[in-house]
Amino acid sequence: MTGASGALGTAIRTRLVKEGWQVVATYRTRPPQDKGEGSSWVRFDASEESAPHALRQAVDACPGRLRAVFACIGAPSSKQAVADTDVAEFEAVHQANVVSFVRTWHALALRARHDGASVLAVGSDAGQAARPGNGPYTAAKAALASLVVTLAKEELRNGVRVNLLAPSLIDSPLAHHVMALKGVTDPGAYFEQLPWGRPLSLDEVAATCIDLATAEQWSYATGQVYPLGAAL
Ligand SMILES: NC(=O)c1ccc[n+]([C@@H]2O[C@H](COP(=O)([O-])OP(=O)(O)OC[C@H]3O[C@@H](n4cnc5c(N)ncnc54)[C@H](OP(=O)(O)O)[C@@H]3O)[C@@H](O)[C@H]2O)c1
Repeated sequence: MTGASGALGTAIRTRLVKEGWQVVATYRTRPPQDKGEGSSWVRFDASEESAPHALRQAVDACPGRLRAVFACIGAPSSKQAVADTDVAEFEAVHQANVVSFVRTWHALALRARHDGASVLAVGSDAGQAARPGNGPYTAAKAALASLVVTLAKEELRNGVRVNLLAPSLIDSPLAHHVMALKGVTDPGAYFEQLPWGRPLSLDEVAATCIDLATAEQWSYATGQVYPLGAAL
């Protein structure tokens, strides 16, 4: 699991470990305080060419079958208009959301093909919604969705499924950070305006990720982009 030090990564990893999985988990700047049972940790930074090597080594050190790859890395934009957003921000956001997935696949392709793994990338409804003031993130998540579909077509013959879950707002530190950037001063009131009067919870998104990647009833699905939201 990449991005395992984040909020969603933690929620997915906690569920998997409870179910008895062995998880190889990545962090970039936040090494785990409590390493816990069932997880081994490796540093992975999408900006570093050496990142795939360390991840490959960590996964290869694990006996048993690589059943699933959860790609949870993501980074938000600064919520400015395109005209006011530095090119460097577009590059950094693309690197976190898209290049991280490429480097993950460079690390794990051989083992995933050998073991018939299922890959689940975490995108965002932003990739489709294209709201004003979110250019770098929208562009990056749209690119990630296209990359997932491309990879699924390439890897079908190798027995690897690749799908993307695109959730809407999740109650998480990242969401609170993004709301602050947007000038939201009352998150509770903001949440009440959402469909059902609330954001998604980390736990319901984690459960959906695990189900899509591992449950038998999804074993036909590949190259699919699944929204997890509510239309108004
Ligand atoms: N939270 C939401 O409302 C929401 C809604 C829809 C979609 N999503 C998506 O869901 C995923 C998880 O979100 P989250 O709320 O768990 O975010 P988060 O808590 O900020 O976690 C982000 C994770 O990505 C890692 N990361 C960031 N930039 C990286 C880079 N350049 N190279 C390698 N690792 C990097 C972070 O590592 P360190 O912290 O160790 O540096 C962390 O593990 C993201 O893809 C996000 O875009 C989130």
